[in-house]
Amino acid sequence: MKNQVLAPSLLSADFAELGNEIKKIENNNGGAVHIDVMDGSFVPEITYGEPVIRSIRKLTKLPFDVHLMIDKPELHVDSFAQAGADWITFHFESTAHAHRVIQMIHEKGKKAGVAICPGTPVSVLSEILPCADIILVMTVNPGWGGQKLIPSCVEKVAQLKKYREEHGLNYMISVDGGVNNETLGSVINAGTDIVVSGSCFFNGSLKWS
Ligand code: DX5
Ligand code: ZN
Repeated sequence: MKNQVLAPSLLSADFAELGNEIKKIENNNGGAVHIDVMDGSFVPEITYGEPVIRSIRKLTKLPFDVHLMIDKPELHVDSFAQAGADWITFHFESTAHAHRVIQMIHEKGKKAGVAICPGTPVSVLSEILPCADIILVMTVNPGWGGQKLIPSCVEKVAQLKKYREEHGLNYMISVDGGVNNETLGSVINAGTDIVVSGSCFFNGSLKWS
């Protein structure tokens, strides 16, 4: 058993079979369900929102790791918390009010995550690292499953791990995008705590244990 949490991304699941797909997550080492919410504005695609989360909430006790790829996440924190999200991660690039959004998520009793795109350096996070529970490092540009991991992004994981040690902080480091059997080793060696996998998990080829 690995020490890391595996969070399969529903984006690559068969949406007509969400019940079975969630069982697949439970039966294949999944420790959380990663749910990608896209709004057609922050990223071009549109996926699903609160009503879908509310209806799949009853299917599992696994934590819901909700990754908001939406503009103005501050407008939606309450409704995603209400729908059953346990961990709410928004993009640093999507709001001028990252600190306030973290506070709003904490007020709802949920874990607060902050995601950064490949073009965003770790250094912009210095003011919020002490209050975030999760930092999600995107290793592809957000918006689509099945892309190739950008190796230089993995270096951000090591930077975040070093910073956490030096400053006595507690956030978990999550990696999202292009994780497969070839890239998993480098992602884990860099110090990732939460590994998101979409296409490789759902095509049944991910070798986890
Ligand atoms: C991409 C999403 C990812 C995606 C990962 O914007 O945030 O969670 O599902 O898919 P793979 O593992 O196929 O790159
Ligand atoms: Zn994601």
